[in-house]
Amino acid sequence: MRTQVGIVGAGPAGLLLSHLLDLEGIESVVLEDRSREYVENRVRAGVLEQGTVELLTDTGLGDRLHREALVHRGLELRFDGEGHRIDLSGLTDGRTITIYGQQEVVKDLIAARLGAGGDIRFEVEDVALDGLTTDVPSIAFTHDGERHTLECAVVAGCDGFHGICRKAIPDGVLTAYDRTYPFGWLGILARVGPSSDELVYTNHERGFSLLSVRSPEVCRMYLQCEPDEDIGEWSDDRIWDELHTRTATRNGDFTLKEGPIFEKGVAALRSFVVEPMQHGRLFLAGDAAHIVPATGAKGLNLAVADVRRLSEALARFFGSGDTDLLEGYSDACLRRVWRVQHFSWWMTSMMHRFDDHDDFQRQVQRSELAYVTSSRAAATALAENYVGLPIATLEAG
Ligand code: APR
Ligand code: PHB
Repeated sequence: MRTQVGIVGAGPAGLLLSHLLDLEGIESVVLEDRSREYVENRVRAGVLEQGTVELLTDTGLGDRLHREALVHRGLELRFDGEGHRIDLSGLTDGRTITIYGQQEVVKDLIAARLGAGGDIRFEVEDVALDGLTTDVPSIAFTHDGERHTLECAVVAGCDGFHGICRKAIPDGVLTAYDRTYPFGWLGILARVGPSSDELVYTNHERGFSLLSVRSPEVCRMYLQCEPDEDIGEWSDDRIWDELHTRTATRNGDFTLKEGPIFEKGVAALRSFVVEPMQHGRLFLAGDAAHIVPATGAKGLNLAVADVRRLSEALARFFGSGDTDLLEGYSDACLRRVWRVQHFSWWMTSMMHRFDDHDDFQRQVQRSELAYVTSSRAAATALAENYVGLPIATLEAG
Protein backbone atom coordinates (compact mmCIF):
# COMPACT_ATOMS: atom_id res chain seq x y z
CA MET A 1 0.00 0.00 0.00
CA ARG A 2 1.17 3.51 -0.78
CA THR A 3 -0.17 6.99 -0.10
CA GLN A 4 1.22 10.51 0.18
CA VAL A 5 0.33 11.18 3.84
CA GLY A 6 -0.29 8.40 6.35
CA ILE A 7 -2.44 9.76 9.17
CA VAL A 8 -2.65 7.97 12.52
CA GLY A 9 -5.84 8.82 14.44
CA ALA A 10 -9.37 9.77 13.37
CA GLY A 11 -10.03 12.47 15.94
CA PRO A 12 -10.63 16.06 14.84
CA ALA A 13 -6.94 16.56 13.96
CA GLY A 14 -6.50 13.51 11.73
CA LEU A 15 -9.88 13.79 10.01
CA LEU A 16 -9.62 17.52 9.30
CA LEU A 17 -6.06 17.09 8.00
CA SER A 18 -7.25 14.39 5.61
CA HIS A 19 -10.07 16.70 4.44
CA LEU A 20 -7.80 19.73 3.93
CA LEU A 21 -5.25 17.62 2.06
CA ASP A 22 -7.96 16.25 -0.22
CA LEU A 23 -8.93 19.81 -1.15
CA GLU A 24 -5.28 20.35 -2.14
CA GLY A 25 -5.33 17.19 -4.24
CA ILE A 26 -3.12 15.29 -1.79
CA GLU A 27 -3.90 11.66 -1.00
CA SER A 28 -4.03 10.29 2.54
CA VAL A 29 -5.07 7.21 4.49
CA VAL A 30 -6.39 7.54 8.05
CA LEU A 31 -5.76 4.68 10.51
CA GLU A 32 -7.88 4.60 13.68
CA ASP A 33 -7.79 1.98 16.40
CA ARG A 34 -11.39 2.51 17.61
CA SER A 35 -14.67 1.90 15.81
CA ARG A 36 -16.51 4.57 13.84
CA GLU A 37 -19.34 4.43 16.37
CA TYR A 38 -16.94 4.98 19.26
CA VAL A 39 -15.23 8.05 17.81
CA GLU A 40 -18.55 9.56 16.72
CA ASN A 41 -20.00 9.29 20.21
CA ARG A 42 -17.03 10.23 22.36
CA VAL A 43 -18.21 13.23 24.40
CA ARG A 44 -15.72 16.07 24.61
CA ALA A 45 -15.85 19.88 24.79
CA GLY A 46 -17.89 22.00 22.45
CA VAL A 47 -16.64 25.56 22.00
CA LEU A 48 -15.44 26.56 18.53
CA GLU A 49 -13.47 29.75 17.97
CA GLN A 50 -14.68 31.96 15.14
CA GLY A 51 -11.55 31.09 13.13
CA THR A 52 -12.36 27.38 13.51
CA VAL A 53 -15.93 27.94 12.31
CA GLU A 54 -14.65 29.98 9.36
CA LEU A 55 -12.24 27.25 8.32
CA LEU A 56 -14.91 24.54 8.56
CA THR A 57 -17.36 26.72 6.61
CA ASP A 58 -14.86 27.69 3.91
CA THR A 59 -13.95 24.05 3.33
CA GLY A 60 -17.52 22.85 2.92
CA LEU A 61 -18.19 21.54 6.43
CA GLY A 62 -20.56 24.27 7.61
CA ASP A 63 -24.04 23.07 6.62
CA ARG A 64 -25.21 21.22 9.74
CA LEU A 65 -22.96 23.39 11.91
CA HIS A 66 -24.77 26.57 10.87
CA ARG A 67 -28.18 24.91 11.20
CA GLU A 68 -27.67 23.43 14.65
CA ALA A 69 -24.91 25.27 16.48
CA LEU A 70 -25.48 28.08 18.97
CA VAL A 71 -23.62 31.37 18.55
CA HIS A 72 -22.62 33.14 21.80
CA ARG A 73 -21.45 36.73 22.19
CA GLY A 74 -20.50 36.69 25.84
CA LEU A 75 -19.96 34.54 28.91
CA GLU A 76 -20.43 34.93 32.64
CA LEU A 77 -17.89 34.69 35.42
CA ARG A 78 -19.63 34.09 38.76
CA PHE A 79 -17.89 34.41 42.12
CA ASP A 80 -18.88 35.42 45.64
CA GLY A 81 -22.43 34.59 44.53
CA GLU A 82 -22.52 37.29 41.87
CA GLY A 83 -22.42 37.06 38.08
CA HIS A 84 -20.33 39.32 35.83
CA ARG A 85 -20.75 39.29 32.05
CA ILE A 86 -17.70 39.34 29.79
CA ASP A 87 -18.87 40.92 26.54
CA LEU A 88 -16.77 38.77 24.21
CA SER A 89 -18.08 40.39 21.03
CA GLY A 90 -18.05 43.96 22.32
CA LEU A 91 -14.42 43.58 23.39
CA THR A 92 -13.21 41.89 20.17
CA ASP A 93 -14.74 43.84 17.26
CA GLY A 94 -17.76 41.59 17.08
CA ARG A 95 -16.13 38.17 17.21
CA THR A 96 -18.20 35.26 18.53
CA ILE A 97 -17.84 31.70 19.76
CA THR A 98 -19.95 28.78 18.55
CA ILE A 99 -21.22 25.92 20.67
CA TYR A 100 -21.18 22.62 18.74
CA GLY A 101 -20.11 19.34 20.33
CA GLN A 102 -16.76 18.00 19.21
CA GLN A 103 -18.34 14.68 18.30
CA GLU A 104 -20.64 16.53 15.91
CA VAL A 105 -17.57 17.98 14.18
CA VAL A 106 -16.16 14.44 14.02
CA LYS A 107 -19.40 13.07 12.50
CA ASP A 108 -19.42 15.82 9.86
CA LEU A 109 -15.76 15.17 9.02
CA ILE A 110 -16.22 11.41 8.69
CA ALA A 111 -19.29 11.91 6.48
CA ALA A 112 -17.37 14.38 4.29
CA ARG A 113 -14.33 12.13 3.91
CA LEU A 114 -16.29 8.99 3.16
CA GLY A 115 -18.57 10.96 0.82
CA ALA A 116 -15.50 12.11 -1.13
CA GLY A 117 -14.18 8.55 -1.38
CA GLY A 118 -11.66 9.06 1.44
CA ASP A 119 -9.86 6.07 2.96
CA ILE A 120 -10.42 5.75 6.74
CA ARG A 121 -9.64 2.38 8.33
CA PHE A 122 -11.34 1.94 11.69
CA GLU A 123 -10.46 -0.73 14.27
CA VAL A 124 -6.87 -1.19 13.14
CA GLU A 125 -4.45 -2.74 15.65
CA ASP A 126 -0.75 -2.69 16.50
CA VAL A 127 0.12 0.47 14.59
CA ALA A 128 3.92 0.90 14.34
CA LEU A 129 6.05 3.52 12.55
CA ASP A 130 9.30 2.89 10.69
CA GLY A 131 11.86 4.83 8.64
CA LEU A 132 10.88 8.24 10.03
CA THR A 133 14.22 9.82 9.13
CA THR A 134 14.16 8.43 5.57
CA ASP A 135 12.19 9.72 2.53
CA VAL A 136 9.93 6.66 2.66
CA PRO A 137 8.55 6.30 6.17
CA SER A 138 5.99 3.55 6.65
CA ILE A 139 3.20 2.55 8.99
CA ALA A 140 2.57 -1.11 9.80
CA PHE A 141 -0.86 -2.09 11.11
CA THR A 142 -3.22 -5.01 11.43
CA HIS A 143 -6.71 -4.81 9.91
CA ASP A 144 -9.24 -7.65 9.80
CA GLY A 145 -6.54 -10.00 11.07
CA GLU A 146 -4.09 -9.14 8.28
CA ARG A 147 -0.82 -7.25 8.67
CA HIS A 148 -0.26 -4.38 6.20
CA THR A 149 2.46 -1.84 5.52
CA LEU A 150 1.49 1.61 4.32
CA GLU A 151 4.36 3.44 2.64
CA CYS A 152 4.09 7.22 2.57
CA ALA A 153 6.08 10.39 2.02
CA VAL A 154 4.97 11.89 5.33
CA VAL A 155 3.39 10.54 8.54
CA ALA A 156 0.98 12.72 10.53
CA GLY A 157 0.76 11.73 14.19
CA CYS A 158 -2.81 12.73 15.10
CA ASP A 159 -3.36 9.92 17.59
CA GLY A 160 -3.98 11.96 20.73
CA PHE A 161 -2.17 12.05 24.03
CA HIS A 162 -2.07 8.24 24.52
CA GLY A 163 -1.13 7.43 20.92
CA ILE A 164 2.02 5.75 19.62
CA CYS A 165 3.41 8.45 17.31
CA ARG A 166 4.98 10.72 19.90
CA LYS A 167 6.45 7.63 21.58
CA ALA A 168 8.01 6.52 18.27
CA ILE A 169 10.40 9.49 18.42
CA PRO A 170 13.76 8.37 19.87
CA ASP A 171 14.70 9.33 23.41
CA GLY A 172 16.55 12.62 23.69
CA VAL A 173 14.85 14.32 20.71
CA LEU A 174 11.83 15.79 22.50
CA THR A 175 11.58 18.10 25.46
CA ALA A 176 8.34 17.62 27.40
CA TYR A 177 6.67 20.25 29.57
CA ASP A 178 4.05 18.81 31.87
CA ARG A 179 1.73 19.99 34.62
CA THR A 180 -1.03 18.03 36.28
CA TYR A 181 -3.64 19.73 38.43
CA PRO A 182 -4.84 18.44 41.80
CA PHE A 183 -8.41 18.16 40.51
CA GLY A 184 -10.53 16.84 37.65
CA TRP A 185 -13.90 17.67 36.10
CA LEU A 186 -17.02 15.59 36.49
CA GLY A 187 -19.01 16.24 33.31
CA ILE A 188 -22.66 15.46 32.60
CA LEU A 189 -25.13 15.77 29.74
CA ALA A 190 -28.74 16.37 30.81
CA ARG A 191 -31.94 16.54 28.80
CA VAL A 192 -32.98 20.06 29.80
CA GLY A 193 -32.90 23.51 28.27
CA PRO A 194 -30.21 25.99 29.36
CA SER A 195 -30.63 27.88 32.65
CA SER A 196 -28.67 30.81 31.25
CA ASP A 197 -28.29 32.26 27.74
CA GLU A 198 -24.50 32.13 27.98
CA LEU A 199 -21.85 29.88 29.54
CA VAL A 200 -21.45 30.37 33.30
CA TYR A 201 -18.00 29.76 34.85
CA THR A 202 -18.29 29.77 38.65
CA ASN A 203 -15.59 30.03 41.27
CA HIS A 204 -17.13 28.74 44.52
CA GLU A 205 -15.57 27.82 47.86
CA ARG A 206 -16.65 24.19 47.25
CA GLY A 207 -14.97 24.23 43.83
CA PHE A 208 -15.40 25.31 40.22
CA SER A 209 -18.50 24.62 38.17
CA LEU A 210 -19.42 25.32 34.56
CA LEU A 211 -22.80 25.51 32.87
CA SER A 212 -22.62 24.90 29.15
CA VAL A 213 -25.09 23.76 26.55
CA ARG A 214 -25.34 21.53 23.48
CA SER A 215 -28.73 22.40 22.04
CA PRO A 216 -32.00 24.01 23.17
CA GLU A 217 -32.86 20.61 24.72
CA VAL A 218 -29.48 19.41 26.08
CA CYS A 219 -27.09 20.94 28.62
CA ARG A 220 -23.49 20.11 29.42
CA MET A 221 -22.36 20.84 32.99
CA TYR A 222 -19.18 20.30 34.95
CA LEU A 223 -18.10 20.17 38.60
CA GLN A 224 -14.55 20.35 39.92
CA CYS A 225 -13.81 17.01 41.61
CA GLU A 226 -10.86 14.85 42.64
CA PRO A 227 -8.63 13.85 39.68
CA ASP A 228 -9.41 10.18 40.36
CA GLU A 229 -13.00 10.75 41.48
CA ASP A 230 -15.13 7.59 41.53
CA ILE A 231 -18.15 8.40 39.37
CA GLY A 232 -20.03 5.62 41.18
CA GLU A 233 -20.15 7.89 44.23
CA TRP A 234 -22.15 10.50 42.33
CA SER A 235 -25.86 9.86 42.17
CA ASP A 236 -27.91 12.21 40.00
CA ASP A 237 -29.28 13.82 43.18
CA ARG A 238 -25.81 14.48 44.52
CA ILE A 239 -24.75 16.07 41.20
CA TRP A 240 -27.78 18.38 41.15
CA ASP A 241 -27.32 19.33 44.82
CA GLU A 242 -23.72 20.26 44.18
CA LEU A 243 -24.54 22.18 40.99
CA HIS A 244 -27.29 24.11 42.81
CA THR A 245 -24.93 24.98 45.68
CA ARG A 246 -22.08 26.13 43.49
CA THR A 247 -24.13 28.16 41.01
CA ALA A 248 -26.44 29.88 43.52
CA THR A 249 -26.41 33.66 43.53
CA ARG A 250 -26.57 35.75 46.69
CA ASN A 251 -29.75 37.56 45.66
CA GLY A 252 -31.36 34.28 44.59
CA ASP A 253 -32.06 35.48 41.05
CA PHE A 254 -30.68 32.32 39.42
CA THR A 255 -32.58 29.05 39.00
CA LEU A 256 -30.79 25.97 37.75
CA LYS A 257 -33.12 23.80 35.67
CA GLU A 258 -32.91 20.04 36.17
CA GLY A 259 -33.51 17.23 33.68
CA PRO A 260 -32.62 13.56 33.23
CA ILE A 261 -28.85 12.97 33.19
CA PHE A 262 -27.87 10.62 30.34
CA GLU A 263 -24.07 10.81 30.37
CA LYS A 264 -21.53 11.12 33.21
CA GLY A 265 -17.74 11.03 33.21
CA VAL A 266 -14.62 12.27 34.97
CA ALA A 267 -11.63 13.78 33.17
CA ALA A 268 -8.31 14.87 34.68
CA LEU A 269 -6.91 18.30 33.87
CA ARG A 270 -3.44 18.59 32.45
CA SER A 271 -1.11 20.97 30.62
CA PHE A 272 1.43 19.28 28.35
CA VAL A 273 3.66 20.25 25.42
CA VAL A 274 6.42 18.50 23.51
CA GLU A 275 9.00 20.36 21.48
CA PRO A 276 9.65 20.05 18.63
CA MET A 277 6.39 18.78 17.14
CA GLN A 278 8.24 16.96 14.36
CA HIS A 279 11.00 14.44 13.74
CA GLY A 280 12.21 13.56 10.24
CA ARG A 281 9.08 12.85 8.18
CA LEU A 282 6.78 12.57 11.25
CA PHE A 283 4.65 15.59 12.18
CA LEU A 284 2.60 15.62 15.38
CA ALA A 285 -0.69 17.54 15.54
CA GLY A 286 -3.36 18.07 18.20
CA ASP A 287 -3.37 16.19 21.49
CA ALA A 288 -0.47 14.00 20.33
CA ALA A 289 1.75 17.08 20.83
CA HIS A 290 -0.06 19.10 23.50
CA ILE A 291 -2.87 19.02 26.04
CA VAL A 292 -4.58 21.99 27.65
CA PRO A 293 -6.89 21.98 30.68
CA ALA A 294 -10.48 22.34 29.49
CA THR A 295 -11.10 25.62 31.32
CA GLY A 296 -10.13 27.69 28.28
CA ALA A 297 -12.08 25.46 25.85
CA LYS A 298 -9.10 25.37 23.50
CA GLY A 299 -8.20 21.70 22.82
CA LEU A 300 -10.10 21.29 19.58
CA ASN A 301 -9.25 24.77 18.32
CA LEU A 302 -5.56 24.17 18.84
CA ALA A 303 -5.75 20.88 16.96
CA VAL A 304 -7.48 22.69 14.08
CA ALA A 305 -4.78 25.38 14.01
CA ASP A 306 -2.06 22.71 13.84
CA VAL A 307 -3.55 20.85 10.90
CA ARG A 308 -4.34 24.02 8.99
CA ARG A 309 -0.66 24.88 9.21
CA LEU A 310 0.41 21.34 8.38
CA SER A 311 -1.85 21.11 5.33
CA GLU A 312 -0.40 24.38 3.98
CA ALA A 313 3.13 23.11 4.53
CA LEU A 314 2.33 19.80 2.83
CA ALA A 315 0.65 21.55 -0.12
CA ARG A 316 3.87 23.52 -0.63
CA PHE A 317 6.00 20.39 -0.24
CA PHE A 318 4.03 18.22 -2.66
CA GLY A 319 3.46 21.12 -5.06
CA SER A 320 7.01 22.36 -5.48
CA GLY A 321 9.27 20.18 -3.35
CA ASP A 322 9.93 23.20 -1.14
CA THR A 323 10.44 22.04 2.47
CA ASP A 324 10.61 25.51 4.12
CA LEU A 325 7.12 25.48 5.59
CA LEU A 326 7.46 21.87 6.71
CA GLU A 327 10.74 22.63 8.43
CA GLY A 328 9.14 25.61 10.17
CA TYR A 329 5.96 23.70 11.15
CA SER A 330 6.82 23.11 14.78
CA ASP A 331 8.12 26.64 15.44
CA ALA A 332 5.03 28.22 13.89
CA CYS A 333 2.62 25.99 15.83
CA LEU A 334 4.42 26.35 19.13
CA ARG A 335 3.92 30.12 19.20
CA ARG A 336 0.17 29.55 19.30
CA VAL A 337 0.48 26.50 21.55
CA TRP A 338 2.30 28.44 24.27
CA ARG A 339 -0.10 31.40 24.08
CA VAL A 340 -2.99 28.98 24.52
CA GLN A 341 -1.12 27.11 27.24
CA HIS A 342 -0.76 30.30 29.21
CA PHE A 343 -4.40 31.27 28.72
CA SER A 344 -5.70 27.82 29.70
CA TRP A 345 -3.45 27.66 32.77
CA TRP A 346 -4.49 31.18 33.76
CA MET A 347 -8.24 30.47 33.45
CA THR A 348 -7.72 27.24 35.40
CA SER A 349 -5.77 29.03 38.15
CA MET A 350 -8.35 31.80 38.42
CA MET A 351 -11.49 29.65 38.49
CA HIS A 352 -10.69 26.61 40.67
CA ARG A 353 -10.46 25.92 44.36
CA PHE A 354 -6.90 24.94 45.30
CA ASP A 355 -6.81 22.98 48.56
CA ASP A 356 -3.20 23.96 49.19
CA HIS A 357 -3.86 27.69 48.85
CA ASP A 358 -3.40 29.79 51.95
CA ASP A 359 -5.46 32.89 52.74
CA PHE A 360 -3.04 35.12 50.84
CA GLN A 361 -3.42 33.11 47.63
CA ARG A 362 -7.20 33.03 48.01
CA GLN A 363 -7.33 36.81 48.32
CA VAL A 364 -5.07 37.26 45.31
CA GLN A 365 -7.39 34.99 43.28
CA ARG A 366 -10.45 37.01 44.30
CA SER A 367 -8.68 40.23 43.43
CA GLU A 368 -7.86 38.86 39.99
CA LEU A 369 -11.50 37.92 39.39
CA ALA A 370 -12.61 41.36 40.54
CA TYR A 371 -10.08 42.96 38.18
CA VAL A 372 -10.98 40.84 35.13
CA THR A 373 -14.66 41.66 35.61
CA SER A 374 -14.23 45.40 36.24
CA SER A 375 -11.36 46.56 34.03
CA ARG A 376 -11.98 46.81 30.29
CA ALA A 377 -8.30 46.12 29.63
CA ALA A 378 -8.28 42.95 31.71
CA ALA A 379 -11.62 41.73 30.31
CA THR A 380 -10.30 42.33 26.78
CA ALA A 381 -7.31 40.10 27.51
CA LEU A 382 -9.67 37.30 28.48
CA ALA A 383 -12.04 37.95 25.57
CA GLU A 384 -9.45 38.09 22.78
CA ASN A 385 -7.88 34.85 23.92
CA TYR A 386 -11.25 33.15 24.43
CA VAL A 387 -12.55 33.96 20.93
CA GLY A 388 -9.11 33.07 19.51
CA LEU A 389 -6.21 35.28 18.58
CA PRO A 390 -5.69 35.83 14.85
CA ILE A 391 -3.17 33.77 12.93
CA ALA A 392 -1.20 36.87 12.03
CA THR A 393 -0.51 37.65 15.71
CA LEU A 394 0.40 34.13 16.67
CA GLU A 395 2.19 32.40 13.87
CA ALA A 396 4.17 35.18 12.26
CA GLY A 397 7.90 35.45 12.76
N1 APR B 1 -3.54 3.88 16.45
C1 APR B 1 -4.57 4.46 15.78
N2 APR B 1 -5.35 5.40 16.34
C2 APR B 1 -5.08 5.76 17.60
C3 APR B 1 -4.02 5.21 18.34
C4 APR B 1 -3.23 4.22 17.71
N3 APR B 1 -2.21 3.64 18.34
N4 APR B 1 -4.00 5.78 19.56
C5 APR B 1 -5.02 6.66 19.59
N5 APR B 1 -5.68 6.66 18.42
C6 APR B 1 -6.83 7.47 18.03
C7 APR B 1 -7.85 7.68 19.13
O1 APR B 1 -8.75 6.61 19.26
C8 APR B 1 -8.54 8.96 18.66
O2 APR B 1 -9.65 8.68 17.84
O3 APR B 1 -6.40 8.76 17.71
C9 APR B 1 -7.48 9.69 17.86
C10 APR B 1 -6.99 10.94 18.55
O4 APR B 1 -8.06 11.84 18.63
P1 APR B 1 -8.23 12.90 19.83
O5 APR B 1 -7.82 12.29 21.10
O6 APR B 1 -9.62 13.42 19.69
O7 APR B 1 -7.14 14.02 19.51
P2 APR B 1 -7.09 15.17 18.41
O8 APR B 1 -7.63 14.71 17.10
O9 APR B 1 -5.72 15.73 18.51
O10 APR B 1 -8.14 16.24 18.89
C11 APR B 1 -7.89 17.16 19.89
O11 APR B 1 -9.70 16.26 21.06
O12 APR B 1 -8.82 15.17 22.91
C12 APR B 1 -9.61 16.20 22.48
O13 APR B 1 -9.60 17.87 24.08
C13 APR B 1 -9.01 17.42 22.91
O14 APR B 1 -10.51 18.78 21.91
C14 APR B 1 -9.23 18.27 21.76
C15 APR B 1 -9.18 17.44 20.57
C1 PHB C 1 -18.27 22.36 26.92
O1 PHB C 1 -19.32 22.85 26.47
O2 PHB C 1 -18.10 21.12 26.94
C2 PHB C 1 -17.21 23.24 27.45
C3 PHB C 1 -17.40 24.61 27.42
C4 PHB C 1 -16.41 25.45 27.92
C5 PHB C 1 -15.26 24.90 28.46
C6 PHB C 1 -15.07 23.54 28.48
C7 PHB C 1 -16.05 22.70 27.98
O3 PHB C 1 -14.31 25.72 28.97
